[in-house]
Amino acid sequence: MPLLTRRHLLHSGLTLSLGSIVAGRTARAAEFLGPSDEMSNSAIAPRERLLMDFDWKFFQGNGSDPYLDLGFGAGQGDFAKSGDFVFAKEKFDDAKWRKLNLPHDWAVELPFVHDDSLQGHGYKPLGRRYPATSVGWYRRAFEIPKEDKGRRISFEFDGVFRDALVFMNGFFLGRNNNGYCPFAFDVTDYVNWGGDNFLVVRVDASLGDGWFYEGAGIYRHVWMLKTDTVHLGRWDSYVRSEVQDETSLLHLGALVQNQGEHSASCRVRWTILDPQKKRVASGESALQQVSPDGSASFTTNINLPKPELWSPETPALYTAEVAVEADGKVRDAEAVRFGVRTAHFDADKGFLLNGKQVKIKGTCNHQDHAGVGVALPDSLQWFRLAVLKDMGSNAVRTSHNMPTPEWVEACDRMGMMMLCETRLMESTSDGLAQLETMIKRYRNSPSIILWGMGNEEWPLQGQPAGEAVVAAMVSRSHELDPTRLCTAATTAPFDNSVSKALDVEGFNYTLKEIDAYRKAYPHKPLIGTETASTVSTRGIYSTDPLRNWVSAYDVNHTDWSEVAEEWWQFYAEREWLAGGFAWTGFDYRGEPTPYGWPSISSQFGIVDTCGFPKDNFFYYKAWWGSDPVLHLLPHWNWEGREGEAISVWAHSNLDEVELFLNGVSHGRQKVPLRGHVEWKVKYEPGVLEARGMKNGAVILTDRRETTGEPESLRITSDRMEIDANGQDVAMLRIEALDSVGRPVPTADVMVTFKVSGEGTLIGVGNGDPNCQESDQGPKRSLFSGLAQAIVQSTRRSGTIVVEASTEEFGRKLKSARVEIKSRNVTLSPNISRLNPRRSRNQFFAIIASLVTALS
Ligand code: GAL
Repeated sequence: MPLLTRRHLLHSGLTLSLGSIVAGRTARAAEFLGPSDEMSNSAIAPRERLLMDFDWKFFQGNGSDPYLDLGFGAGQGDFAKSGDFVFAKEKFDDAKWRKLNLPHDWAVELPFVHDDSLQGHGYKPLGRRYPATSVGWYRRAFEIPKEDKGRRISFEFDGVFRDALVFMNGFFLGRNNNGYCPFAFDVTDYVNWGGDNFLVVRVDASLGDGWFYEGAGIYRHVWMLKTDTVHLGRWDSYVRSEVQDETSLLHLGALVQNQGEHSASCRVRWTILDPQKKRVASGESALQQVSPDGSASFTTNINLPKPELWSPETPALYTAEVAVEADGKVRDAEAVRFGVRTAHFDADKGFLLNGKQVKIKGTCNHQDHAGVGVALPDSLQWFRLAVLKDMGSNAVRTSHNMPTPEWVEACDRMGMMMLCETRLMESTSDGLAQLETMIKRYRNSPSIILWGMGNEEWPLQGQPAGEAVVAAMVSRSHELDPTRLCTAATTAPFDNSVSKALDVEGFNYTLKEIDAYRKAYPHKPLIGTETASTVSTRGIYSTDPLRNWVSAYDVNHTDWSEVAEEWWQFYAEREWLAGGFAWTGFDYRGEPTPYGWPSISSQFGIVDTCGFPKDNFFYYKAWWGSDPVLHLLPHWNWEGREGEAISVWAHSNLDEVELFLNGVSHGRQKVPLRGHVEWKVKYEPGVLEARGMKNGAVILTDRRETTGEPESLRITSDRMEIDANGQDVAMLRIEALDSVGRPVPTADVMVTFKVSGEGTLIGVGNGDPNCQESDQGPKRSLFSGLAQAIVQSTRRSGTIVVEASTEEFGRKLKSARVEIKSRNVTLSPNISRLNPRRSRNQFFAIIASLVTALS
């Protein structure tokens, strides 16, 4: 197999020129989109959790010149007096700031810069050398009614990249300096009850964590939480299920905090709803006194008879409604999503889910997508997961950071297991705090089968400190969650200090050392935390270093990794290996290995940055999925190469495949177990057809036809109806068709998008790792025949009209149009309107500043 070194790509030996495949089926996220966690009985839900994503203002600050950064840090006295931050007060004028909604990633809007130190991050100008583009300010005005006085008000940020300083009404609330953990501030003391309030966040993305694209800004949701003074602790409620024959014992726990002035006599009640939302069990704790400014833990155990077990095939989800009563009155309540299942790692049998051996067929993924960077609308998380599920994958690893809540929720609901990984392999207070947040936040999610303590910390692995650091992390994890084991992604030599402290050894690559480790540690469960790093460019069948292209046959990998067939055969053959996670499911920005500029995205993905499948997708689908698969490659548009031998492959899990070119057979071949079949065929235009046989009968055929020139465009939407909530998106696939309607796999025309009605275009992409066109559109070229447009609903129902056209001289194609319905839905509680008094006040503020300027 050809090897790719970190810096140089060796030719694959193939001599084909440009090409493409027709991408596979559109992902079916729509099938899975489900309700989110809500209390069944809102009468007992006195808390309000309000989405704060809409109506923000944004200003690009500056990391080195305070005068370009709202004067922040111009002297040394910014923090001298409490409540003095003008930008977070009513009189501050943000009229010139840009309006936007969250989630937002300003990095995706920046131009690409050819600076090799930015290679890992996708050539975006972030960092201390780029002060003009590394700091962003967000400002949000909102009203809190007078009636709320007496409640506790806090803000929750699901994730901000990276260093966030948060202010409200002139006051500094606090700081968070990591890019992946949620954080919250109780702002009750600073609220202007019955009036306007101003929340300001300064985000400094000068420092990063990763060696991959991380984005910049408030890229996850923001929430306002209103509770009683007696309330449940944040992420303190847990449900641990213990499966015993026909029943499950639920261990239930919650923490009650009393921020009131009087001691409260509290009890916690749990109501369990089954997947159909029917009450099936309930329980309550003993009464306990919770003193003012105190907290207390409440627990109980209850039986859940005949539980429906969670698995990727049957993602049955239960809800625990947790309500705290004080002095006979419900004071706070929340809904906790959980599942009942067992997950067991075994040194001989690998992994068992609900007592059944299951091989982990996983992918690692970063969190960015074409067009939007890391600011993914929720339904895009579902879309991405549907792509991976369609491939037969049953697990994801959240490399290398705590995931967004919606990715975890999608895994819970759609049925995808998860290795949930923290960013820092550290036993420092920061490291442990991040780990603790991750575990508390997600420990009720049945999809999570293993906690990850970190990735490839090779300097630490080589020192004795590695064992102590990881042992502290593992011990903390077990304390917070006694139901799950811990692993970490380690590199060879695997017998290192970090490995010593792990429950489950995690191998990254280096297959040749795995058998020896197993021999040395026969009692340790083992998993492939990272494998593959196979590289390929979608629709390209000849490696061309001048164009930064890597052939999409399964032949290229880096010098530390292996091709898909190699790693999967190795793992599948060894029962004691629990399975593994291929690097990566999706291509991602940054790390454009094996190339550099002008490549801006990685080529490791089994699908590209848009989610369009590369050919290897069908290798995995054949050997991971349960449906019969037959996929033929390459495409058959090789004008000018008539008579040349072309390598033709089929990925299939059938018994045999016979290949025909223009009706003439080129032979029938047996499909090797976990392999593929291959022919050399002299090119002539026409129809290449594979016929796949099972037990002697043809059950599938796949064809590649030589097409004509592009004549028209086609738009296909993953859904024809989306929610009018200002968040939902339709994922559009754009293709060019020839005169008889066949997609042209080599088409590269520039397409212009026009979106009208109740929707907006929020991003475009084409999966080309070398394409530096704007992610915002409205133009995007097709790459290997495909492009993607992401269209988001407004908060008004109606019709969204998307038109795609070409304008290039001599290549004007028949344009395409699609209408998507945006339907009325109950909006998740959000604060969508500004207080009208605010604009009046702002008007007076502008007049006042004009008067000052003139006098
Ligand atoms: C691994 C690393 C990943 C990615 C990959 C590329 O060593 O854990 O983050 O860099 O290499 O092959």
